[in-house]
Amino acid sequence: MQKIHAAITAVGGYVPEYILTNKELETIVDTTDEWITTRTGIKERRILKGEGKGSSDMAVEAVKDLLKKRNIGPEEIELIICATTTPDYQFPATANVIADKAGLVNAFGYDVSAACSGFLFALTTAAQFIESGRNKKIIVVGVDKMSSILNYEDRATCIIFGDGAGCVLLEPNNEGLGLQDSILKTDGAGRVFLHQKAGGSVKPATVETVMAKEHFVYQEGQTVFKFAVKNMADVAAEIMERNGLTADNVAWLVPHQANKRIIAATSERMGLPEEKVMINIQRYGNTTNGTLPLCLWEWESQLHKGDNIILAAFGGGFTWGATYIKWAYDKQ
Ligand code: UT7
Repeated sequence: MQKIHAAITAVGGYVPEYILTNKELETIVDTTDEWITTRTGIKERRILKGEGKGSSDMAVEAVKDLLKKRNIGPEEIELIICATTTPDYQFPATANVIADKAGLVNAFGYDVSAACSGFLFALTTAAQFIESGRNKKIIVVGVDKMSSILNYEDRATCIIFGDGAGCVLLEPNNEGLGLQDSILKTDGAGRVFLHQKAGGSVKPATVETVMAKEHFVYQEGQTVFKFAVKNMADVAAEIMERNGLTADNVAWLVPHQANKRIIAATSERMGLPEEKVMINIQRYGNTTNGTLPLCLWEWESQLHKGDNIILAAFGGGFTWGATYIKWAYDKQ
């Protein structure tokens, strides 16, 4: 009997309207468009404005986009997994809020927390439910409102990140298309280099933690950079090797958009030319869990049934991984 594969059958996305340019950042912190462009590749990023708006509000727009494109109703979705680092609340899960706001009345939902690798971790988790035959329609969302945890006085972090949401629908495929393989890794020793110091159970929020700005992203950029370059390139090369893939038969690399130099190191290691690499960091910055699905969303019309696609990510935790997908459809 042919194995059931979990295939992506639709993609949705949403980025907020407000564009924060490098030029505007020059008026906020001591930086230049030239420094940001040459060190990261970023020119602008989107920011979610509006009182009371959270990650779920962007995710809901992405989910609605996906349902419309696939021409199905929200009640058909059985499970929603939300990968996020900036949940609406500590609890309940943002997946629950999205399900409520988007009318996924028959779905159960939960969040996955794996920083920038969260979308890959959630995708692999969701695939198990499809491959086992338990579920037939699952939405995986990657969303972050990074602007809610950024210190706009810290030029080393506030220039990198942006807000956005992307999502995919997973359905069973009997033709061998869909998720083929995944390598996922975690090294908790890396947590000290990229994390949020307060607000969890180790250091609950107090007036002092707020005054000390400990609810913002803390990153030792150079160290994270070194680990990211090595591990993302290694894991992408490993998944190619163990699946007998070469630069010729890989159609696309979908890399996490953290830094153009990290993406270049990964694609060089894979031997891929630039035209096979999805890069939109210049327009969106690093949207953390949003980067991979937002790339798929933007490139969807260029993807073809049977294309070999590698997704790769590295993030806080440390977490990293690569997933190999055989694309399942041509966009109508
Ligand atoms: O997605 C999650 C995982 N995160 C990542 O993958 C991020 C990995 N790290 C990076 O992408 C890079 O380390 C950064 C983009 C964060 C920083 O680039 P860098 O080339 O590693 O710069 P650096 O931290 O080594 O700083 C070099 C210099 C410093 O000045 P001095 O000490 O040499 O005088 C910084 O103070 O650049 C300075 N600097 C800036 N200058 C202008 C740092 N940020 C800025 C800025 N504008 N925004």
